[in-house]
Amino acid sequence: MKTYRVALLGCGPRGTSASRGYNALSRTEVVALCDINQERLNLLGDELDVSARYEDLDAMIQETEPDIVIIPTNTKFHFELAMRVLEYGVNIDMEKPMCVDLEQADAVIARAKEKGARIAIHHQGRVAPAMNAVAKAFAEGRIGRLRHIETSGKGYFGGYGLMNIGTHSLSNVIKFAGHCQSVSATVLTGGHPITPADVVPAPNGMGPVAGECITATMTFKNNLCATLYQHQFEKMDTTAYQLRLLGSEGQLCWKMNRAWLLPTPHYLPDGEHDLWQELDVKLPEGFESGTTVGEAEYAFAAEYVAALDEDRDHECSGSEAHHVLEIMMGIFESGAHQRAIQLPQLERRHPLLRWREENGLGPPEKD
Ligand SMILES: NC(=O)c1ccc[n+]([C@@H]2O[C@H](COP(=O)([O-])OP(=O)(O)OC[C@H]3O[C@@H](n4cnc5c(N)ncnc54)[C@H](O)[C@@H]3O)[C@@H](O)[C@H]2O)c1
Repeated sequence: MKTYRVALLGCGPRGTSASRGYNALSRTEVVALCDINQERLNLLGDELDVSARYEDLDAMIQETEPDIVIIPTNTKFHFELAMRVLEYGVNIDMEKPMCVDLEQADAVIARAKEKGARIAIHHQGRVAPAMNAVAKAFAEGRIGRLRHIETSGKGYFGGYGLMNIGTHSLSNVIKFAGHCQSVSATVLTGGHPITPADVVPAPNGMGPVAGECITATMTFKNNLCATLYQHQFEKMDTTAYQLRLLGSEGQLCWKMNRAWLLPTPHYLPDGEHDLWQELDVKLPEGFESGTTVGEAEYAFAAEYVAALDEDRDHECSGSEAHHVLEIMMGIFESGAHQRAIQLPQLERRHPLLRWREENGLGPPEKD
């Protein structure tokens, strides 16, 4: 069976985590690393024992001929780097959010298709063991018919939380609900619906964003709705980040690397007993606990191997992440114009930039 050759473009914290996953897998070999930061390049090169170290991505790809290039850089570089890597027709594993707007994401998807390359976007929680436990219980019919989905963030500034954490949440939502038809969002700053002046550049190159508090309702086929909360808290709270599936016979709850089942659709919290049951979370085959390798990273890499073997897309494919971005841009559009937005949108430019232009404003500037 083929061993897939993996090259890493960016040896920061995320590149380190992702490459450890591929390095631990028997079917992938990390063959080359690239970073303009020599210290990071050498630190990771020494850890993974990879001698092919580059500062130039073209040289890395030409000389080492990888099957997959991982792109874990600041989001503002995703588009440019993906387009450069796609020139070589190489498959990509790129960090989330995929791009900062739909114009960029459309171009990446189109170029990948022309070049016959596959794209996976690093929504690793979607294929991680705890989410698999939720998916298994769901497929076994343990919550009956799906009635509603709820998902919430970690308490960042809402607009930034949407691009940063909401991208994972929405990828998880569409895993169960399918693709979204329309979105209706309330996007508030200082207690009022956002105005064009409330648009700001997001940290970490995630494009223009707005809203301290975002509440969005999405519609899907079969009368299914989902609600997403990205509300700014006084203090960040990672335990608030969760997914809840509400069914006719029970509920499922996912939080990072744990999962629970409530075997009844609703119950009185009378304090007598807690009906929530923790689900058995099975670690991926071949995964060794107690090392620096994350189980989600390992599972993400293993899914890429399976996808390439089977000549299909990764579950967290470029087109799934493209749809996630479609929803996120729809949320901003809906919040700005205070009306429901049908997806996909005809206008592909960033809705908040268009909105500012319509109001005589240029792109928002950093303070
Ligand atoms: N999936 C997750 O759970 C998760 C968690 C946190 C962050 N992220 C995402 O990860 C990304 C950021 O990752 P990070 O924090 O490791 O970033 P980082 O900026 O710390 O590291 C990126 C590295 O890439 C290098 N680089 C950038 N452009 C390059 C180029 N053209 N050639 C060679 N090297 C180049 C930089 O020198 C840097 O060392 C963002 O997209 C963010 O949204 C994902």
